[in-house]
Amino acid sequence: MLLGVAIQQTAAQTRALTVNASESIAPIQPTMYGIFFEDINFAADGGLYAEMVKNRGFEFVDPMMGWQQPNSDRHSMNLESGFATAIKSKESPADQTYIQVLVNKPEGYELINEGFRGMGVESGAEYLLSFEGAKGEGEVSQVVFTLIDESDKAIGSTTVDLSGTDWKVYEASIKAKATSEKAKLKLTFQGAGIVHLDMVSLFPKDTWMGREKGLRKDLVQLLNDLDPGFLRFPGGCIVEGRTLARRYQWKKTVGPIEDREILVNRWNTEFAHRPTPDYFQSFGLGFFEYFQLAEDMGAAPMPILSCGMACQFNTAELVPMDQLDPYVQDALDLIEFANGDVSTDWGKLRSDMGHPEPFNMKYIGIGNEQWGPEYIKRFKVFEKAIKAKYPEIIIISGSGPFPDGEHFEYGMEQLSELNSEIVDEHYYRPPNWFRENANRYDSYDRNGPKIFAGEYAAQSVAIASPDNRNNWNCALSEAAFMTGLERNADVVVMTSYAPLMAHAEGWQWTPDLIWFNNLESYGTANYYVQKLFSNNRGTDLISITEEDSPLTGQSDLYASAVKDANTNELIIKVVNTAKSAQEIDLDFEGAKVAGKAMSYTLRSDDPEAVNSFESPKGISPAEAEIPLSKGRLRTSVPSEALVVYKVKIK
Ligand code: AHR
Repeated sequence: MLLGVAIQQTAAQTRALTVNASESIAPIQPTMYGIFFEDINFAADGGLYAEMVKNRGFEFVDPMMGWQQPNSDRHSMNLESGFATAIKSKESPADQTYIQVLVNKPEGYELINEGFRGMGVESGAEYLLSFEGAKGEGEVSQVVFTLIDESDKAIGSTTVDLSGTDWKVYEASIKAKATSEKAKLKLTFQGAGIVHLDMVSLFPKDTWMGREKGLRKDLVQLLNDLDPGFLRFPGGCIVEGRTLARRYQWKKTVGPIEDREILVNRWNTEFAHRPTPDYFQSFGLGFFEYFQLAEDMGAAPMPILSCGMACQFNTAELVPMDQLDPYVQDALDLIEFANGDVSTDWGKLRSDMGHPEPFNMKYIGIGNEQWGPEYIKRFKVFEKAIKAKYPEIIIISGSGPFPDGEHFEYGMEQLSELNSEIVDEHYYRPPNWFRENANRYDSYDRNGPKIFAGEYAAQSVAIASPDNRNNWNCALSEAAFMTGLERNADVVVMTSYAPLMAHAEGWQWTPDLIWFNNLESYGTANYYVQKLFSNNRGTDLISITEEDSPLTGQSDLYASAVKDANTNELIIKVVNTAKSAQEIDLDFEGAKVAGKAMSYTLRSDDPEAVNSFESPKGISPAEAEIPLSKGRLRTSVPSEALVVYKVKIK
């Protein structure tokens, strides 16, 4: 009798779920899961862009920032060493400054670049050095470049002969004899006298796709592994700038690197609790490189442009409506740069930069996270001008920084009236919000604008708190919410976590999807959630129900399902947020399934658990096989887990 009760209870706990494979509810857009890149947290300079020398062109506001002269003193004649002085040679906004190095006593003088919280150097690897130089008066005949480790020990060096008083580009390479996460580049000189230097640069030879002066390989690999459907760039608030003068202007980020006008990074002084005074944008990673990166990853490029509004969290400066034209022209010219024939001005520049073929850009975003009537006014002007010239380009508008409230309501109402094609929504909310909002899009107007869930991340403490962690509780909550994004793939056509990357010592904002230092990088638990969804995005949305209702968190279970017409598979994502396992009995309608299911389980017993440099894959998917029983999948979904099940259709 007792045994009978036990069996009955177990049976009652098993949840009968039905996957209906016969009806495709909507196509899953290839853009469904993408990445949102912003140069925040040293994501570009000091991160993805593999340049190791900080302030290589002496163009920072303090031209010697990042450079040290340990044996020199500005209040002395430095007769036992030497001294470098910044020379502001031009009024042109780019490449204004170089340095004049006066070497009084070669054996006493050192000029050292500290890198981005050091330089990551690996034993046996080759580093490509380049600089612009011109001899001045005196007898300086050579520059010696030495990589030094944290205890100032030399771990590789090269000597370059100087020739002539005309400026020229010198190149050499350094092979590292040891590994250091915090190396520095030391310059010493042979002979006394004067030498002029500019654009002192050091890159690993081994970059993503072997491109000279390219991107950091391990970081792009992590991005590429996500198989992103799109790459949004360059942000984020960085698009808007704290002031209009400091907005992101794409035209200043293309063409020869030395001509790209450096800009103070808007995250430099944003947070008093994380000041980063040495954070500038060199634009070595500029719009051409972003398009190229998107192409490398098979992702749709999605540039976002300023709409004439500075960040509304900062100055909120507006360009007057009658002076909006140059901003609109920037958008039109960008489309020409990306897609135009090589006979056009901007298409020619793209071709000159090495890419005669168009980048096939389909999307453009107007404004980042703007709100209020001034945004709508400006958006309308952009939309009219872009559609008149490029009707095929899909324009992304924004509903502001919050997923609700009067600005959100106003923005959505206005953008719906305008029949805006895609609206970008942002939500930085507590983990519970994500669990409670898995049904957010169930009630959206199916004939309204499509949705780009453009920036979201569960905040374990509060927005912009430095104590936020990429813990399992946040990642699991995002997974629960993402089943809701996927279940509504007829409305939600693009999604991306934000921010994307952070340097372990140079960050301003946490949580972030990927963390790195100068040598290593790892994906967070949130990264593996994104990866499981993105790598298993399928081609068609199908339904998964319990008693004819979608699973949106009833008794802690969430689910979505897709079919992959390319692999002939059904893919089911189940999230169990309960503290105990839940039994499920999955029935497949409209498809015969064979043999076994594969399962990919992401979980942790500890909601506070995080991945780290020491345990980079502590929380990462575990693969298993589950035999099917009479065409059904009966299994136990572990507690606090995201599980992706894949079955082949017979
Ligand atoms: O992702 C960090 C910031 O959050 C973005 O720059 C901005 O769009 C949002 O407020």
